[in-house]
Amino acid sequence: MHNGRPSVPGDPVPAPCCAIFRGLSRGSAERAVERAIEVHSRQAEGFAESYTRLEQDPYTSCFTYSRLRLERLLDAYLDRRQTGEALLDVGCGTGHHMRALRDRGFDVAGVDGSAAMLEHATANNPGATVLLSGVDALPFADASFDVVVCIEVLRYLPDPEACLREMVRVLRPGGLCLATATPVANLNGYAAVNRIASTITMPALTALRQYFTTPDRLGRQCAAAGFSSRRIHGVYLGPVNWVERIAPTGALGPFLRRWEAVDDALADRPRLRGVTNMLLVAAER
Ligand SMILES: C[S@@+](CC[C@H](N)C(=O)[O-])C[C@H]1O[C@@H](n2cnc3c(N)ncnc32)[C@H](O)[C@@H]1O
Repeated sequence: MHNGRPSVPGDPVPAPCCAIFRGLSRGSAERAVERAIEVHSRQAEGFAESYTRLEQDPYTSCFTYSRLRLERLLDAYLDRRQTGEALLDVGCGTGHHMRALRDRGFDVAGVDGSAAMLEHATANNPGATVLLSGVDALPFADASFDVVVCIEVLRYLPDPEACLREMVRVLRPGGLCLATATPVANLNGYAAVNRIASTITMPALTALRQYFTTPDRLGRQCAAAGFSSRRIHGVYLGPVNWVERIAPTGALGPFLRRWEAVDDALADRPRLRGVTNMLLVAAER
C-alpha cells in the first residue's frame, strides 16, 4: 500500500537503508533478491495497466512520463541497429519493451525472475523465448545477442555487477547494452526517504530495498564487468514524484508537458546527470 492506496509502478519503494551495495552477507543479499521478485510479482497487474496508460497518454503519471523519456533515448540508439538482430530483455517484466522492439524488427527474448510478470510477457510476445531466470545467471550461451536491454532492474540488485558481467558474456563482440540505474542524489529524494525509513518503521515506505549509484560508479562498474566503452545519460530530472502527490486532479499532465522542456534542456547535462531520477548507460562489449 502507498498512502492508503494500492502501490502502483512509480511509487517510491525505498530501502530500509541507503543501499549502495557494500558487502551485504550472502543471506541478506539473497533475501533482497527474493523480496524484489516477490514485490514485483504482486505489482505485475499494475505494471501492465501502467503500460496501457503509457500507450494512451504518456503524461498521466510520473511512471509513464519516465518511460516516455527513456524510450526516446533508447530509440536514438536502437534506430541505428540492423533489422533482425537478436535482442535480450534482462528483467523483461510484462514484456512491454520486448513487444515494441519486436514490432521494430528485433528477434527478441526475455528473462525475469517473476512468473507473474512472465505471464504477461508471454501473452504480449507469442512465440518469443521468455524464460524464468535470475539476471545474474542468464540461461544463454556466450555471445548469443547483438543487443541487451535492462530497464529498471539494476536498482533492485544487491550485486549489479554480476548482472552486468552476464550481459557482457551473452553479447557478441561489439554488441550494445542499454541499462538504467538510479542516482543516489536523485531529486525525487528516494535515497533520503530510504535513510529515514531505515530509522523509523514506515511500512508504506519500506516495500522494497533499492540500490543507488552515481554516474561515475556506474561507469566503473561497466568497465569492471568488461564493457569496452560506455556512455551515460540523464533521463529525467526534478522532484516530479512529489509534484504528482500534491498536484490537484488533472494538473499533473499539463505540468509534465511543460516540465519536458526543462528535461530536454537539462537532464542530460554532464553536471546534472548525477541528480537526475534515472540514468541510462549505453555500453558496448
Ligand atoms: C521495475 S521492473 C521492470 C520491468 C521491465 N524491465 C520494465 O521496464 O517494465 C523490475 C523487474 O526486474 C525483475 N527482477 C528484479 N530482480 C531480479 C532478479 N534478481 N532476477 C530476475 N529478475 C529480477 C522483477 O521481477 C521485475 O519484473
